[in-house]
Amino acid sequence: MNAVTVPIKTYEYDRPQAGMACTAEAWAKVPSAPEMAERAELKERIRRLLKEKGAVLVAHYYVDADLQDLAEETGGCVSDSLEMARFGRDHPAQTLVVAGVRFMGETAKILSPEKTILMPDLDATCSLDLGCPADEFAAFCDQHPDRTVVVYANTSAAVKARADWMVTSSIGLDIVAELHAQGKKILWAPDRHLGSYIQAKTGADMLLWQGSCLVHDEFKGIELDLLKAEYPNAKVLVHPESPANVVAQADAVGSTTQLINAAQTMDATHFIVATDNGILHKMRIAAPGKTFIEAPTAGNSATCKSCAHCPWMAMNGLRNLAEVLESGANQIHVDPAVGLQAKRAIDRMLDFAAARRAKALPTGKLENNAPMFSGVGPA
Ligand code: 13P
Ligand code: SF4
Repeated sequence: MNAVTVPIKTYEYDRPQAGMACTAEAWAKVPSAPEMAERAELKERIRRLLKEKGAVLVAHYYVDADLQDLAEETGGCVSDSLEMARFGRDHPAQTLVVAGVRFMGETAKILSPEKTILMPDLDATCSLDLGCPADEFAAFCDQHPDRTVVVYANTSAAVKARADWMVTSSIGLDIVAELHAQGKKILWAPDRHLGSYIQAKTGADMLLWQGSCLVHDEFKGIELDLLKAEYPNAKVLVHPESPANVVAQADAVGSTTQLINAAQTMDATHFIVATDNGILHKMRIAAPGKTFIEAPTAGNSATCKSCAHCPWMAMNGLRNLAEVLESGANQIHVDPAVGLQAKRAIDRMLDFAAARRAKALPTGKLENNAPMFSGVGPA
C-alpha cells in the first residue's frame, strides 16, 4: 500500500519572519559559551540549586555537553524523548528542569500537572511543532474521521489532544505496525520523513502531514554517498527524521538513544552520524576509541541552511539554567483540559513501551536507557 501525501504548507525558517520561527532570530538568542572560570562557577551553582530546590534535570542529547553531564551526575537523566517523558513522570522530584525544546517541557507538564516544570528558555521550539498548527491539524483530522490519528512527540499539547496516539522515534514503528495489524488506517503528523520511513517498513495505509525537521532535512544523500566512499568501513547511523535517500544508506536507523546504543555495540571503528551533532558528546563517552564523523549537510547538491545543530536546542545554556533555578521563572503551563485530553495519547504510548520492555526483560527490571533495538536496523 502506498503512503498518501497531502501538500500542506511550506515553511521557510531561514527567511525573515516574526519571532522564533526564524532561525536567524533563534541563533541570535543562543547564549555565548562562558569562559572556563565562569563555567566552573555556574556548574557548581547549578549543583547547589538543584539540591536546594529539590529539582531534577532532564536533558536531551542535543543540548550543551555541560548540561548533559550535569543531568547525569546530579541524578537526572539525559536521553531521547521517550525516556525523558518516562523519567520525568516517574521521578519523585516536584520540580523538573527540562533542557530541550518546548514540546519536551509540555509533555512533562501533561504527564505531571502537579509538578513545576522549568525550562532555560521558553522560546526553544521545534520546526515540526511550528509546522503543524493545531487549528489546521484539527481541520485535517475532521476531513478523515475514519483514520486513527498518530502524532509525533514533536507537536504542541493541542495537537496531541486531537490525537489517538503520540509516538516518539524510538517506538513509532512498532506502534504503527501494531495498528496496521489491527486493520487501522493512519493519519500521521507532522514529520513526513519519519512517516514515509514507517510507512515503507510497515506497509500501513498512512496519510502524511508534510512537516520536517530543519536540521535533519538538510542531510544530503549524494554527499553521504561520496563520504562513504572515503570511509568504506564506516557504519552509517541515521535518525529517521532524515530524507529517504539518507535513510536508505543507513546501517542503523533509530532514535537518539538507539543510535548511541548502535555506536556502542556495532562492530566498527568509524561511524558516520546523520543527526544533530550534539549527540557526538554522548557517543564519544559511550564508545571510547571509536571515531564519529558528521554526515554532510552541504556540498554540490546542497542549499545549506543547517550545520547539523538545532538552534532551539542550542538555546539551553549554563547561565539561563542557573537563572531559572534561582528565580523559578520560565515555568511551562498547559491548559488543564487540553493537557488531560493530550495525556490519553501519551499514556497509550508509555503503556505500550512498558509492556514491550516487560516482554523484553522477563525480570521486570526497567533500566534507564535500556537498549531498545526493536525497529533498528538496515533501512
Ligand atoms: P529522539 O526522541 O530520537 O531523541 O528525537 C527527538 C528529536 O527532536 C530529534 O530531532
Ligand atoms: Fe525539532 Fe529538529 Fe530541533 Fe529535533 S532537531 S527539536 S526535530 S527542529
